Amino acid sequence: MKADTLPLYEKVADEIAGMIASGTFRAGERLPSLREVRARRQVSMTTVQESFRLLEDRGLIEARPQSGFFVRARSPAPPAVSCPCPEPQPVVTDALMWRYLRYVATSAGETSFACATPAAELFPARSLNSLLAQVMRRQSGLLADYGRSDGLPELCRQIARRTLDWGHALSADDVLITNGCIEALNLCLQAVTQPGDVVAIESPCYFGVLQLLESRGLKGLEIPTDPVTGMSLDALDVATRSGEVKAVIVVGNFSNPLGALMPEEHKRRLVSMLEARHIPLIEDDVYGDFYFGRERPVPAKAFDRSGNVLYCTSFTKQALPGLRVGWVAGGRHHAQLQMQKFSLSYCTPPLMQAVTAEFLAAGGFDRHMRQLRRTLCRQVRETLAVVQDAFPEGTRLAEPQGGFLLWLELPEGADSRALFDAALAEGIGFTPGPLFSPGDGFSRCLRLSCGHPLTARREKALRRLGELARRQLGG
Ligand SMILES: Cc1ncc(COP(=O)(O)O)c(C=O)c1O
Repeated sequence: MKADTLPLYEKVADEIAGMIASGTFRAGERLPSLREVRARRQVSMTTVQESFRLLEDRGLIEARPQSGFFVRARSPAPPAVSCPCPEPQPVVTDALMWRYLRYVATSAGETSFACATPAAELFPARSLNSLLAQVMRRQSGLLADYGRSDGLPELCRQIARRTLDWGHALSADDVLITNGCIEALNLCLQAVTQPGDVVAIESPCYFGVLQLLESRGLKGLEIPTDPVTGMSLDALDVATRSGEVKAVIVVGNFSNPLGALMPEEHKRRLVSMLEARHIPLIEDDVYGDFYFGRERPVPAKAFDRSGNVLYCTSFTKQALPGLRVGWVAGGRHHAQLQMQKFSLSYCTPPLMQAVTAEFLAAGGFDRHMRQLRRTLCRQVRETLAVVQDAFPEGTRLAEPQGGFLLWLELPEGADSRALFDAALAEGIGFTPGPLFSPGDGFSRCLRLSCGHPLTARREKALRRLGELARRQLGG
């Protein structure tokens, strides 16, 4: 169809598309509002709305709730499914891990993309402070008592209520409060494995899990993992046939570091496959609340009918990192976890639990999460757009549908250990890929956390990191 016979809304859409193509509007930038376009182009609101809808359908722009329309980044090419060592391996922490942990603890500042937590300013500090003061006033005995080892009944009740949309809800008795998700994972491994056992893990796998395997004398069997859909169930099927694998650990919702989201039908298959083989599934759902879509993805635990899934999570990433409140629903291992919790840490501080319970009960948590999800979604997309602009040609990354982590695979020849040193020398931090494997994989990969707002200083640091990566490749 000739341009002059096109409907008006298509003409307007084509004009804007042309401006995007020429770089007048760049990826991640906000477009003028519908009202501004209507006034400038002297067309009706319906025409502008139709043209924006067309641009959305063409994948050129996206609406962000209460923020307007933004130019979408070109869809990046995701890294390939990992191809790890097919043999179980003992985990041995190397020097890079200690250097990384020291950096995170002592010098990670505004130009750090390392820590997997949202920025402190995104947390509702004022309301939490006043909640803390209220709880202290009303329940002053909380500091004078250990409290119950399995957790404050009111917190367990509040948590159980939140599982209503899973299809088969938990009861307060199914919930055991822990010191963060990491203690929940630790308890689960203690319950279902013996030193020397083999545990199937994602590839790449959150380094905290690797450290748990190391501390318990367990071997990790890395299973090929798709950056978009998570652990390959065909590969897991083969790996779990011999009976050697004694447990499987999976982060089904927005994994760390990949950001992968396992589709619901995969979760169903995973649960039934492991149930049939009597292999416990330890599910880590610490990022499940960070969805960018309309609904929270259900955990694999929602499909568990036999108690074979040990579900672990926490409130750490959402709002309350310093409270260290997590929980586990251990299925048929629950009683054992309760016993172990007693000997591992006796209890989780009751004051912290009471503040968490109050925050959940009063609706403050959900309000805060609605806002936080929007902010993180924006930060992830802005970061992604800068990476696409500033990193070497051929860098691959998957666009996550939730969470706040980006996993990058740099082109052949890159070395993320050397890049880590070069970046640190300039005060820029990230998490090098080799930390996510017990073997020597992911040497040209890195994880970027988008937990902090992309300020001008931060964007400059990110562009500089891209430049350092290009230099490594001789660019
Ligand atoms: C996948 C995953 N599991 C567990 C944890 C630990 O959570 P918590 O701080 O609640 O112990 C983290 C923290 O980064 C994580 O990324």
